[in-house]
Amino acid sequence: MAEVFRVSGPAVIADGLNARMYDVVKVGDEKLLGEVIEIEGDKAIIQVYEDTSGLKPGEPVENTDNPLTVELGPGLLANIYDGVQRPLPEIKALLGDFIKRGAYVSSLDKKKKWHFVPAAKKGERVDGGRIIGTVKEYNIIHKILVPPAVKGVITEIKKEGDYTVDDAIGTVDGKEIKMMQKWPIRKPRPSKEKLLPEMPMITGQRVLDALFPVAKGGTASVPGPFGAGKTVVGHQLAKWSDVDIFVYIGCGERGNEMTEVLKEFPELLDPKTGKPLMERTVLIANTSNMPVAAREASIYTGITIAEYYRDMGYNVALMADSTSRWAEAMREISSRLEEMPGEEGYPAYLSARLSEFYERAGRVVTLNNETGSVTIIGAVSPPGGDLSEPVTQATQRVVKTYWALDAKLANRRHFPAINWLASYSQYEDTLNRWYAENVSADWPAMVAEAKKILTEEERLQEIVQLIGSDALPDKEQLTLDIAKLIREFFLQQSAFHEVDSYSEPKKTHMILKSILNYSEKARFALKSAIPVKDILKIKSKNLISNAKFEKDYASALANADREIEKELGALSKQ
Ligand SMILES: Nc1ncnc2c1ncn2[C@@H]1O[C@H](COP(=O)(O)OP(=O)(O)OP(=O)(O)O)[C@@H](O)[C@H]1O
Ligand SMILES: [Mg+2]
Repeated sequence: MAEVFRVSGPAVIADGLNARMYDVVKVGDEKLLGEVIEIEGDKAIIQVYEDTSGLKPGEPVENTDNPLTVELGPGLLANIYDGVQRPLPEIKALLGDFIKRGAYVSSLDKKKKWHFVPAAKKGERVDGGRIIGTVKEYNIIHKILVPPAVKGVITEIKKEGDYTVDDAIGTVDGKEIKMMQKWPIRKPRPSKEKLLPEMPMITGQRVLDALFPVAKGGTASVPGPFGAGKTVVGHQLAKWSDVDIFVYIGCGERGNEMTEVLKEFPELLDPKTGKPLMERTVLIANTSNMPVAAREASIYTGITIAEYYRDMGYNVALMADSTSRWAEAMREISSRLEEMPGEEGYPAYLSARLSEFYERAGRVVTLNNETGSVTIIGAVSPPGGDLSEPVTQATQRVVKTYWALDAKLANRRHFPAINWLASYSQYEDTLNRWYAENVSADWPAMVAEAKKILTEEERLQEIVQLIGSDALPDKEQLTLDIAKLIREFFLQQSAFHEVDSYSEPKKTHMILKSILNYSEKARFALKSAIPVKDILKIKSKNLISNAKFEKDYASALANADREIEKELGALSKQ
């Protein structure tokens, strides 16, 4: 019989266990949940998802012969899970505030009945991933999929009616099919084909959509020092992105940060429907008192749930806040195992793990021949804001969009504090084409112009520092003025303003257009020998800023354009 040989925090070595890599095991008298992560001869190294204090050598270890899986089926939405998919509310109700060790709680509610409507017939041949029925999960049509590995002829299918996720709703070649299926979290769910990410995930945040867009099925990272706005970006994405489902993985280090998320999220309303945001959200929470190994697993639990909804043909986005905490969990486990450390003590496989994770993003043709996508956004919290540290660097090598948050901007209360010079998107060309076709033909040119002005500003600022702005040529003084408008009127966007929290692409386009219109007219005025100091003084340009807080921004901006024209016109008549 297998037994505990040595205990080192979350890492346990077992003797005499006949195991394969990633087998799930029950460790000790309390049957703590663990997973085999290394095998050396007759010793198996296990990471344990629960507190191991008190666990002693000699206690029994039992192999379940199964990998770590999640339960996928109706009832995932609106749930709050821990890293190994135990529903937090149920666990709390059962055991009080502290999660008792070895507690088994079902991930999906096994008693709740769902109204199943069949979508396939007896005698039909089906492959894995085929949709054989639907149930309504809040406002989402939850499609019941044949598990990927199953195929054959439907030998039976239940009539429309109410069933639990555990009831057989049909059989394929005599094998029972339930509304619920299991999937090993470390293995990507299959799809038919990866498509090019060519559609934007519209976030309603101007700086992101216009300057650094992310594609549906793409990857983005949000590196940022303490307090720069990573979590607010995450919340904004959860609220406003044009996706069907959002998976939010909170890996808070500070205890109160996760508590805030746990308190806030259930209260948030979906601004588009007025219903609770949780009805299309799955929340995975790692509080600071949870064992590190559960945090390590939470990333995989989250991405597997995201892929499952993708397989129904939905657009899903996943935010992990922050992946640095995940990397630290890897580091802690690795050091317990006395593995050879890499840079800054992180395991040598850090980069590989990060890239495997981000590779699970994508826009795909599903096994059922629909398109679905998973977009992954990972926050990174570099210690001391040092962007050259290993997690930021390894992430930057694999993601295609990089939203660099900047402490200086945050201190100046320029929000979102995304540094426009350090950030980039490799989807820009592709997505600009989409915006040109779907929003306005001049989108790419306008965005390029705005970026040019901002870059120019940076160069001019250096000169200003030396000689003051009055010494600059008129043309360049005007450039500084326009850059300021772009920053303050266009890039700045308060997450907490009732109207401006969300900026639809048309609004984003119109604000920038008004600023660039002003730019063109002001330059023309300058050419007609109007003194730059008079141009810089005109008041009506502030109307552009006011317009962004108006529900009817279109008429407010049209009015701003007219007033600017009038005021500049009056100058030329003097
Ligand atoms: N878009 C925004 N609009 C208005 N205020 C913002 C915005 N983004 C950030 N802030 C302000 O900055 C504060 C800190 O943001 P946030 O908590 O997201 O930072 P963080 O990077 O997640 O910090 P930590 O490192 O502590 O997790 C917010 O409480 C808010 O006051
Ligand atoms: Mg945060």
